[in-house]
Amino acid sequence: MLKRFTISMDEKLLDDFDTYISQQRYVNRSEAVRDLIRSALVNTEWQDDKPVMGVISLVYDHHKPKLQEKLTEVQHDYHHQVISSTHVHMDHYNCLEVIIVKGKAESIIELTNNMQSLRGVRNCKLAMTTTGRDIH
Ligand code: NI
Repeated sequence: MLKRFTISMDEKLLDDFDTYISQQRYVNRSEAVRDLIRSALVNTEWQDDKPVMGVISLVYDHHKPKLQEKLTEVQHDYHHQVISSTHVHMDHYNCLEVIIVKGKAESIIELTNNMQSLRGVRNCKLAMTTTGRDIH
């Protein structure tokens, strides 16, 4: 059921918000506010160690001795969390790996940190998202 409520705010803050929503291509304030609330709720799921989804992207030097092996080992340690991974040989030296993960927030962060800290990993990013079950 759709419910309405009124928000009061400073004029300058509202002007800035209207600039933001037009830059983000929202058609109205309501959808923009809903998205901001959803985004806050997703952050809460991660902070509260709830079941979440994520995408880890890794760029690494595949000539670094043993690195590929170590990355595989870490992913096997977290096989319950790793759903799928895709590997792209970007050029002679660099590989890109994209890993889709699901599980308790803390275990996903642990997995990310264990890969990020390996020598030869040039960039490791975790995109934190949601299972969508509790976000409406
Ligand atoms: Ni490769």
